[in-house]
Amino acid sequence: MKIIRSPKEMQRICGGLKREGRKIGFVPTMGYLHKGHLSLIRIAKKKSDVVIVSIFVNPTQFGPREDFHSYPRAFGKDRLLVEQIGCDYLFTPNIKSMYPQGYLTFVDVEKITHRLEGAVRPGHFKGVTTIVAKLFNIVQPDVAVFGQKDAQQAVVLKKMVDDLDYGIKMIVAPTVRERDGLACSSRNTYLSNDERKQTKVLYQALRMAKEMIKNGERSASKIASKMNKLIDKQPLAEIDYIAITDANTLELINKLRGEVLISLAVRFGKTRLIDNIKIKVEGVQA
Ligand code: PAJ
Repeated sequence: MKIIRSPKEMQRICGGLKREGRKIGFVPTMGYLHKGHLSLIRIAKKKSDVVIVSIFVNPTQFGPREDFHSYPRAFGKDRLLVEQIGCDYLFTPNIKSMYPQGYLTFVDVEKITHRLEGAVRPGHFKGVTTIVAKLFNIVQPDVAVFGQKDAQQAVVLKKMVDDLDYGIKMIVAPTVRERDGLACSSRNTYLSNDERKQTKVLYQALRMAKEMIKNGERSASKIASKMNKLIDKQPLAEIDYIAITDANTLELINKLRGEVLISLAVRFGKTRLIDNIKIKVEGVQA
């Protein structure tokens, strides 16, 4: 595996790979890799000839009071993990090379970025779309793999790829979870033991919602209110939002139909966790 730090060099290498007709699979990450990230890399390997993983903690997607500085980093371990899994290139640019002094250009997807996470974290998605647009221009992937764990991010990035004619095949991979159901996340490392024990309520709430739908419930407010009650029983949980939306437009819905996204953001102490499930309502047997 080759480690590349310079965007220009990465772009030159990828240009060469394209000219040779190699299919490039790409997995962008912010590092501190876990089973979820590794599942995306395995998918990229299956779908392409050359796999490129990027690790870059992107400052523009963090708000001023968010955890950019304390975001966990473990380059040595990450490097071994991606090498073991069979990644071909690890791209780890530094901040100055991605955002040199005088940097002025941003990519912004409208409307769908103002809801859910966007409502609580203004500017977050503008940072995400900007960095991913830059990474796409450098790596020139044929296939890019993202996680359903960040459902809104996947919807927003697919929209960007469509609207800006990137011609990249976007794959959204299922959420990988710990044994008790907690979605793997780099931020789980912030949790104290007591907080960690209580976080399993998040997946319990999502599964309960799925069960209610299976049993015929179609009222979003009834489902959200039951989820709220269940999560609220955990003394350390503070709910940011529980939202039931159309899975594609991310608009709030009252009556469940079609593809529905049930998403939540809950704080345990200083740690903010997000999770979701996507459900095809018509497909679920009553
Ligand atoms: P990061 O949080 O490191 O996640 C990188 C990729 O891994 C994203 O596509 C995310 O959805 C996916 N992922 C995270 N946890 C997962 C899990 N438990 N199961 C499956 N996939 C999971 O998302 C980002 O970084 C950044 O916003 C990025 C896209 C790299 C832009 O900076």
